[in-house]
Formats: sequence, structure tokens, C-alpha cells
Amino acid sequence: MCWSRILTPEFGKNFHDAMANDSHVLMSVILNEGKGVFDNLKSLVDVGGGTGTTAHAVVRAFPHLHCMVLDLPNVVANLQGTANVVFIGSDMFESIPRADAVLLKFIFHDWSDTDCVRILKRCREAIPSREEGGKVIIIDAVIEEDKNKQEDDLITETQLLFDIMMMAIHNAKQRTEKEWERLFLESGFTDYKITRVHGFRSFIEVYP
Ligand SMILES: C[S@@+](CC[C@H](N)C(=O)[O-])C[C@H]1O[C@@H](n2cnc3c(N)ncnc32)[C@H](O)[C@@H]1O
Repeated sequence: MCWSRILTPEFGKNFHDAMANDSHVLMSVILNEGKGVFDNLKSLVDVGGGTGTTAHAVVRAFPHLHCMVLDLPNVVANLQGTANVVFIGSDMFESIPRADAVLLKFIFHDWSDTDCVRILKRCREAIPSREEGGKVIIIDAVIEEDKNKQEDDLITETQLLFDIMMMAIHNAKQRTEKEWERLFLESGFTDYKITRVHGFRSFIEVYP
């Protein structure tokens, strides 16, 4: 999927405004319920971070953190950074700047397994070892397959609707825990931890 082609100036503005609203709501929940996930980090790169709403929310909660927002050059071209939020126009498939952690919110569900492994390998190259605090933080859906463990029919239905939407738009999908695990192991990671946070989303900490 070529994002530069679908994000025309008009559609792009609406799309990034919608994503910014989503980040605004979701990050207030995550930074409340799952704040520990950002503890001890000095630097973070938000890959596919759009117009920076997530990064600004994290930095407001952790003012010592240096945060880079990497997105396509046309997305970040006219965005103004701050002392600790810097915008980088680049392609995540090429390289990701070094940081203690890489954050990817709502990225992997847009991509095939092959592309996800390519992105995850770039993430692996960008972070230090687990002992030095390196990790990847993913905010995305984790589909619960076991009917007995599904807590809420509405959440499952929403996840499955998104699954169909991602298949139709991007030839991509939402993933179960087993499918996520396969991607992590194939990309050279050794361990992960899933925390369910809000509605149909979870955050996943992935360790080298
Ligand atoms: C679904 S949006 C998620 C935006 C943001 N993470 C959020 O949750 O609000 C996907 C983002 O990935 C960016 N993107 C797509 N292809 C990219 C690439 N090759 N390199 C960097 N960013 C890319 C898009 O421009 C878009 O901002």
C-alpha cells in the first residue's frame, strides 16, 4: 500500500485529524492505566507517528523524554517541533533512528506479515539490548480467538470489523496473539508482554 498516494492533501488532513483525536483519547487512558510502560526511557521514536499527538502526550507526562516522530516526508514537512519533540521525514522500511524504545501505534494492522517483519527488523536495529532497557511498544488490537475468554461481544465485533476493513483497504489484518508472536520471533525478538488497555486495543512490549 502506497500511503503517499492515498494521503492526498485534502484526505490526508482529515485522516491525520481523525488519528490525532484517537491518540488524544487513547493516550489519556494509556498514560493513566499503563504509565509504567514509559518509565526509565530517555528517548523514544514514534514510528508512523503522524502529526505528533501521541508524542506530545507522552512528553507531557514524561518531560525529560526526548521524542522523535518519524513519518513520511510529506506528512511532517510543515510541522513544528518543540524542545523535546522532533519531526523526522523518512521511510520506516529504510531505517529508524536509534532510541531506547520504538513506539508504533496503529501501524502493523496496515501491513502484510512480510512487511511487518521488515519493519520489526528495522525496530530491532534501532534499540539497545533488553538489559540496557531496549524495547518496542506496540499499540494495536490483539484478537481473542477463544470464545470463553472473550470479555465483550461488542469489542470482538469491532476487532473483526476492523479486520475486514484492513483486508479491503490494505490487504492487511488484525492479529491474534499467536500471529503476533510468530512475527516477533521471526524478526529476532525473544519475548513480549501484552497488556489490554482500552476497548479493542492493547499495548504489547516486545523485547530483544
Ligand atoms: C494508521 S496511521 C497511524 C498514525 C499514528 N500512529 C496514530 O495512531 O495516530 C499510519 C501512519 O503511518 C504512516 N506511514 C505510512 N507508511 C510509512 C512509511 N513507509 N514510513 C513512515 N511512516 C509511514 C502514515 O503516514 C500514517 O501517519
